Amino acid sequence: MPIERSGSATPWPIQWPIMTEATPITRKLSARVQAVLPSATMAVEGRVKQLRAAGEPVIGFGAGEPDFPTPEPIKQAAVEAIRNNFTRYTETGGMAALKEAIAAHESAKTGLTYTAAQVAAHTGGKESLYLAFQALCERGDEVLIIAPYWVSYVEQVRLAEATPVIVPTTADEHFKASGDKLERYTTSRTRVLVLNSPSNPTGMVYSESELEDIARWARRHDVIVLSDELYDRIVFTDHYPRWLRVAPDLYDRTVVINGLSKAYAMTGWRLGYAVGPEWIIKAMLKIQSHSNSHPTSITQAAAVKAYTTDLEADIARMVAAFKERRDWIVSALNAIPGVRCVMPEGAFYAFPDLSGVLGKPLRYGRTCHTSEELALYLLDSVKVGIVHGEAFGAPGCARLSYAMSLDLIQEGLARIQDALTFA
Ligand SMILES: Cc1ncc(COP(=O)(O)O)c(C=O)c1O
Repeated sequence: MPIERSGSATPWPIQWPIMTEATPITRKLSARVQAVLPSATMAVEGRVKQLRAAGEPVIGFGAGEPDFPTPEPIKQAAVEAIRNNFTRYTETGGMAALKEAIAAHESAKTGLTYTAAQVAAHTGGKESLYLAFQALCERGDEVLIIAPYWVSYVEQVRLAEATPVIVPTTADEHFKASGDKLERYTTSRTRVLVLNSPSNPTGMVYSESELEDIARWARRHDVIVLSDELYDRIVFTDHYPRWLRVAPDLYDRTVVINGLSKAYAMTGWRLGYAVGPEWIIKAMLKIQSHSNSHPTSITQAAAVKAYTTDLEADIARMVAAFKERRDWIVSALNAIPGVRCVMPEGAFYAFPDLSGVLGKPLRYGRTCHTSEELALYLLDSVKVGIVHGEAFGAPGCARLSYAMSLDLIQEGLARIQDALTFA
């Protein structure tokens, strides 16, 4: 099965070791680190920030974080933690009160029973995923990643020296994989499936029947499902089909990843968690005990507050604002000739297919052949930052985050529309 590799100078699959014998030992980096790419979403944001610092009026659609303040009770809990000198080391993976709060929170969400021993808290869901791959995978193992995918999955799998196997999907499939499609990419080495609903970057939400279909595939194979549910609170439909509600029998083979970042507008606080079978959590804790130990004590105190307080009104306000922006941006994108955007049902990203404008001369004197060229063209010509689809394993597409005011979205879309006018 071909393994897609985009935007990289490194050949894939990697030939170990990468360094040659001529490389001086003082300049040697590990083959592991040479095999990974830096985060492309961060690269675009970095360029946007640079231009802004130089005084350019840039509108950046790159950011993957809510533009709302953290709810007051959570902030208060953190202030109290500092005042009460709750500033020392805690247990690896978080203090007992936090693990218990998360276990209760996930038990309520799934209708299943989790204990504190099945929970580990980390410095962001990003670290939870990293540790899960480190604990579960090694060289020779394959991890199924459905494209378009969140950028870090692929690189984290590589850091575990395992092989990311990309399962491509199209806009016509609403960027979702069926059980049949997964079957075609499954081998005796398939170890893990990464499931991400709502998805970053597409905003797609798997329906109940689509999850049932994937569950049938999972039952046929001895795989672990990493269910990345970071965006589970940002859903625009009445009902969010949750993986473990649809497939509770896969409780023993599922690790749920979640955190504070998206649901409570707390990206900078850095708290994520993994909940799953004790043997996997224990293995993750072992690695964590030798790496960063635990999230900051102050963030932990804030997280206990978040998971034990009714903050539904704050979340509902944020989701309503995102929904209004989504409706606006998707219809504005679809009004641009050559652009097609499927309606996302969750998260805060639009993921248009821009292939209709590729290869055609555009207003500001350029013909773009890839969405990466198009992203640079938009930045240069009208000072708008979008993230090219290649970064997510989806050439021809792009991601636009609408986590910003409607006024800015409207100004940004007017500029995009202008720049994408055919010459
Ligand atoms: C799909 C997905 N998973 C996980 C994460 C990690 O989030 P954090 O480390 O802030 O918890 C992100 C962040 O952008 C994401 O988009």
